[in-house]
Amino acid sequence: MHIFNTVSRVVVGEHCCANIAEVLTEVSPEPVARVLLVSDAQLLSFGLLDSAMQGLQAAGIEVHLFTDVQPDPPQELVLRCAEFAREKAVEAVVAIGGGSSLDVAKVVALLASPKCQQPIEKMYGVDQVVGERLPLLLAPTTAGTGSEVTAVAIITTGETTKAGIVSAKLYADAALLDASMTASLPPAICAATAIDAMVHAIEAFTSQHKKNPLSDQLALSALHLLSNNIEAACQPGATVQVRENMLIGAMQAGQAFANSPVAAIHALAYPLGGHFHISHGLSNALVMPHVMAFNLSACAPLYAELARHLKVADAQLGDDKLSDEQQAQQLIDYLTQLMQTLKMPVRLRDCKVPEGSLELLASDAMLQTRLLINNPREVALADALAIYRAAY
Ligand SMILES: NC(=O)c1ccc[n+]([C@@H]2O[C@H](COP(=O)([O-])OP(=O)(O)OC[C@H]3O[C@@H](n4cnc5c(N)ncnc54)[C@H](O)[C@@H]3O)[C@@H](O)[C@H]2O)c1
Ligand SMILES: [Fe+2]
Repeated sequence: MHIFNTVSRVVVGEHCCANIAEVLTEVSPEPVARVLLVSDAQLLSFGLLDSAMQGLQAAGIEVHLFTDVQPDPPQELVLRCAEFAREKAVEAVVAIGGGSSLDVAKVVALLASPKCQQPIEKMYGVDQVVGERLPLLLAPTTAGTGSEVTAVAIITTGETTKAGIVSAKLYADAALLDASMTASLPPAICAATAIDAMVHAIEAFTSQHKKNPLSDQLALSALHLLSNNIEAACQPGATVQVRENMLIGAMQAGQAFANSPVAAIHALAYPLGGHFHISHGLSNALVMPHVMAFNLSACAPLYAELARHLKVADAQLGDDKLSDEQQAQQLIDYLTQLMQTLKMPVRLRDCKVPEGSLELLASDAMLQTRLLINNPREVALADALAIYRAAY
C-alpha cells in the first residue's frame, strides 16, 4: 500500500502572482489583515515582488517585507525572520523566491504561529513538528527545488551542516506557478536549478523504500518536460511556454520526491554547499554522474527505463539489444553531455574544491543518514570517498 500526499491547490498561469490576495482569501480559514512576504534582495530589486504586493495592498492587506534571505539559509536568519513576523503580528506567510526563500517561509509559518510553541531545534528530522502553522502560499522563481510542493525545509545549522525539517505541516496551502517570475533567471542559475529538479525525479524513481506508482509517473513526466525544455529555458528570451513547462516539471519532480525521497546524490551534494558555498543545484550536478555510476549495479533496469523514456538510449543496435547496463550508461552519458551543453563546470577541481578536502566531504556526507537510507545501493565511507575522487 502507498500513501501519496501533496499540496491541495496549485495555481498555474503567467502573472498569477498578481492574484495572490484572492488565493489567500480562498485558503485562509480566517480573514487576513497582515502578511509576511519572504524573498531575497535581488528579486526585490528585479521587481518580481511588485505585482503580488500591489494585489495584496489593493485587497486592503498590509504587507511586511522580509528580503534578507540568502542561499542555503542559516538558522539564525530563519529565527530573525520569525522574530520580525511576530513583531508585525502577521496572520499569513507568502514567499516568492528560490528554494531558499520558500524554505525560510515554511519554517517561519510555524515559528510565528500562535498555535506553535516549539523551538526550531526540536523540529529537525522526520515528523518532529508539533503545532499548527499560519496560512502559507509559495511561488517559486527557480525551476527548481520543488519546495513549493514538498514537506521539507533545508536549513544550514552551524557553520557547514545542512539539516532538514520534514513534516506534513510544511505542505503549503497553495503553490503558484507564474512563468513571469523566471524570465530573469541568469543561464547559470537556470541550468543548475534545472539539474536539481532532474535529480529529484531520478532519485525519486530509484528511491529504495518509498518508491510508489504516483511518484513514478510524476518523475517520468517531470523528466520529459525538463529534458525537452532545459536548453531553451537557459537561453536568453526563452518563451513563456518553455518556462512554464520547466516550472511544471520542477513541481512534478518535487511532488515525486516528497513521497519517494532523494538519496545519495543529495547526501554527497550537501557537504559541497556547506563547505564551499557551491549552489545546491551545481553541487548535485557535480556528483550526479558519479553517484549514478556507483548505483548502476543496483538499479540498471530503472536507469535504463529512464533512458528509453527520454529517448537517449538506442534500444536496438543492429540485431543486438542493448543491455540494461548499457542503456543506463547512456542515461549517465546524456546527463554529463547536458551539463557540458549548458556550460556548467563538470569537475570538483573546476569549482575550487581542494583535493585535500575529499576525506572531510566523505565523512560529512555519511552524516546524511536521512538521505542515504533511500539510496538503491548502500554507501560506505570508502564509497563516498571514491565517488568524490571520481568527481574531482
Ligand atoms: N525544500 C525542499 O524541498 C528543497 C529541495 C531542494 C533544495 N532545497 C533548498 O533550496 C535552496 C536552493 O534553492 P534554489 O536553487 O531555488 O536557489 P536560491 O533560492 O538559493 O537562490 C539562488 C540565487 O538565485 C537567485 N534567483 C532566484 N530566482 C531568480 C530569478 N527568477 N531571477 C534572477 N535570480 C534569481 C537568487 O536571488 C539567489 O541569488 C537550498 O538551500 C536547498 O538546500 C529545498
Ligand atoms: Fe535538491
